[in-house]
Amino acid sequence: MRAEELRSHRWYGADSLRSFSHRARTRQLGIAAQEHLGKPVVGILNTWSQLNPCHMHLRERAEDVRRGVWQAGGYPVELPVMAVGETFQKPTAMLYRNLLAMETEEVLRSYPVDAAVLMGGCDKTTPALVMGAISADLPVVFVPCGPMLPGDWRGQRLGSGSDMWKYWAERRAGKLGDEQWAEIEEGIARSPGHCMTMGTASTMTSVAEVLGLTLPGAASIPAVLSAHTRMAAASGRLAVDLAWHGPRPSQVLDERAYRDAVTAVLALGGSTNAVIHLIAMARRSGVHLTLDDFDDASRRVPVLADVRPGGAHLMEDFHRAGGVPALLHRIADLLHLDRPTVYGRVHGHGLATREPYDDTVIRRRDDPVSPEGGLAVLRGNLAPDGAVIKHVAAEPRLLRHTGPAVVFEGHQDLLRRIDEVDVTPDSVLVLRGAGPKGGPGMPEHGMLPIPERLLKQGVRDMLRISDARMSGTSYGACVLHVAPESHVGGPLALVRDGDLITLDVEARRLTLEVAGDELDRRRRSWTPPPPRYTRGYGALHEAHILQADEGCDLDFMRGSGGAPEPDVD
Ligand code: FES
Ligand code: MG
Repeated sequence: MRAEELRSHRWYGADSLRSFSHRARTRQLGIAAQEHLGKPVVGILNTWSQLNPCHMHLRERAEDVRRGVWQAGGYPVELPVMAVGETFQKPTAMLYRNLLAMETEEVLRSYPVDAAVLMGGCDKTTPALVMGAISADLPVVFVPCGPMLPGDWRGQRLGSGSDMWKYWAERRAGKLGDEQWAEIEEGIARSPGHCMTMGTASTMTSVAEVLGLTLPGAASIPAVLSAHTRMAAASGRLAVDLAWHGPRPSQVLDERAYRDAVTAVLALGGSTNAVIHLIAMARRSGVHLTLDDFDDASRRVPVLADVRPGGAHLMEDFHRAGGVPALLHRIADLLHLDRPTVYGRVHGHGLATREPYDDTVIRRRDDPVSPEGGLAVLRGNLAPDGAVIKHVAAEPRLLRHTGPAVVFEGHQDLLRRIDEVDVTPDSVLVLRGAGPKGGPGMPEHGMLPIPERLLKQGVRDMLRISDARMSGTSYGACVLHVAPESHVGGPLALVRDGDLITLDVEARRLTLEVAGDELDRRRRSWTPPPPRYTRGYGALHEAHILQADEGCDLDFMRGSGGAPEPDVD
């Protein structure tokens, strides 16, 4: 491509009043003509903020990306975008995934950007940035923020999320005092970076790598390593090349790429949230990925990454064992090796020599964590459009189970009553009003707490069913993403205390043992709850959000293209 063909040339190159203004304002930025004219503009979309501890190093890291862009003859411009983050954002960061996706798309389209570096990693930021880039269809490379260091407490390695849930249960069972609890507070998250278990963050940055949107090996590099700095600079250099030569997301993200991503998520024992995000991303690319694609793959693909919550290790161990390329080496026969990536080589390039360094972390095919994948898609009269369970993280006795329902109307009701309700270890805890519209935003409330009385008896798992999601760092027999959700009148809305519910993971069935005519009667007397929002983004979200089985995108955001390039003059 010649410099005159760069997209940004329309802003800078013409002998027009507008181009004059763009050049004059670049001088105002302190950039001389020879520093940028004729060079590609690389946007650095940064999700840094002081309320996103996972991304706290990204302000510095953006400087490393800029260094790479300058080195390769580009003009770097840092563009802050919404710092969607799990820890502080309420009611749930998921409410804002689609807003960040929209912002990403519009920032890329409305500014003179030829290629972009996307910087994120905390759960929703990865799918959001990628969804926006797909729809804008400008060349991008993703810089994963990297996992934080393993947690540390009295010589034990702690995993973010997973060990928080575990020790919180111990504390509620009366086994952990104030002093120990305060020490865990200081030790569980002790460096920049995203959660270092195989939660949603690690799963989705690995997905970005498998899709071919990062440099090879980038996803697992711990945030604080020098290698992470070098990867950031190298991604900046790559972005300049992408601006000149492509490919665009539409040339990389075909059906094969998404199928490989599904396969990898299962081999990673990855987060249930990946189901929602990958369906949304694929449909932006025009690929009709469905829940059944996950279930089919789950029957073929063994879980090989022995990383918490489904396994024993943490992301640093996974990185030292070889990271995503080593995992892909183990499942190369299940992948499409000849598809393109953003780094100019085919996906399978070099995989043959990426034998894992540690078989206890990335297990051999004949010694998997679990012989079949970690996800099952359930259907039945309680979830006509599907539900998801990560059965590898559940107690096996619950995978075929019938028990009486104990129903909670939303999370606040759950918190109020969970320690008072009449339950046995066989009861089925049901949470409704926690879906995409009703939650709102489908919060991570799906790992319902075990009632304190049962915890004290040593019970650590029960069958739980909801239209919520759960954190990728959670575990237990939690049936999630029940669709349609109760808020729109899905059968979950009709369950009553004491109704028997049967889960049969092997048969992929979830059944409410109530006769059809009784359910019809209940349905006729059901009244829809009032809207959660009357104005603003919440109302837009509520009016347009798709159900979990469709990826929870906004109905008018599906696909890419269709939006005109802006007039510059
Ligand atoms: Fe950011 Fe877990 S809180 S990845
Ligand atoms: Mg999470």
